[in-house]
Amino acid sequence: MSVSLVGKICKQTVVWYPKIKSPLSFAQAFHLHVRSPSPVKSFASMTQQIHVSENFFFKQLFDRVSCTYSYLVADTESKEAIIIDPVIDLADRDAKIIDNLGLKLKYSVNTHMHADHITGTGVLKKLLPGSQSVISTASQALADKHVAHGDILEFGNHKMEVRATPGHTNGCVTYVCHEQGIAFTGDTLLIRGCGRTDFQEGNPERLYDSVYNQIFSLPDNFRLFPAHDYNGILDTTVWEEKKFNPRLTKSKEQFVEIMNNLNLAYPAQIDKALPANKVCGLYNLPPEMEEKYKSVLKP
Ligand SMILES: [Fe+2]
Repeated sequence: MSVSLVGKICKQTVVWYPKIKSPLSFAQAFHLHVRSPSPVKSFASMTQQIHVSENFFFKQLFDRVSCTYSYLVADTESKEAIIIDPVIDLADRDAKIIDNLGLKLKYSVNTHMHADHITGTGVLKKLLPGSQSVISTASQALADKHVAHGDILEFGNHKMEVRATPGHTNGCVTYVCHEQGIAFTGDTLLIRGCGRTDFQEGNPERLYDSVYNQIFSLPDNFRLFPAHDYNGILDTTVWEEKKFNPRLTKSKEQFVEIMNNLNLAYPAQIDKALPANKVCGLYNLPPEMEEKYKSVLKP
């Protein structure tokens, strides 16, 4: 993507959200979030918001470098917790938060094998012994536990369903907490966008089917939490994306045409991220990460 196009997108964002600017143009270019041209006009047709239950803990965390959202969910009674898409650079921050809250990390899960940052799941399981790393079998990446479509991850009294949502990568999954009305969509569905499909087994037809069959089939008022946002928006809903996603409101044929003609730049971090992410972020690390976590990563 050209610098001028990034500039245009940033300008659009500033008009819509005057106090929010994209932290990094390279991160924005990575997934090319093009905002919908028309703002939400009415919420009249949206059904009532769902509130999480009293014993459900939820915290959204952010990495300013890759614009990645990580999510900490927990059962407040048993204290069992799951973290979704942690970033290695901030694994020490996340471990401290989990420790301070008195939570017991059960799983560190990835929605897919990321290409824009190194996963924190490997370091976290070292920092918080007793926890396990998780990724889909289809990702072909190393982890303690592999999941597939239909599997359930339990934490205390809560459950998270695994839904296979390939298309951005073969191994992409969406995690759904039905009782809480929330889903973690990874890069399959982003806020007014979606993950690119031009590398890592990307396939626009599969992504379109994944979104329609596994995400848009959820109730309209389910809140959706993506793996990234470059514009400071925290979440979306099934209803919003069905109405206003500039790509996914199109026909499948039009969507494929759009995705096949994005002409995006080569991902800046992919050569560093993928080798490490194939092995759970435990090996093939850049020197600064080896140094930062040398005490926990020693054999
Ligand atoms: Fe991705």
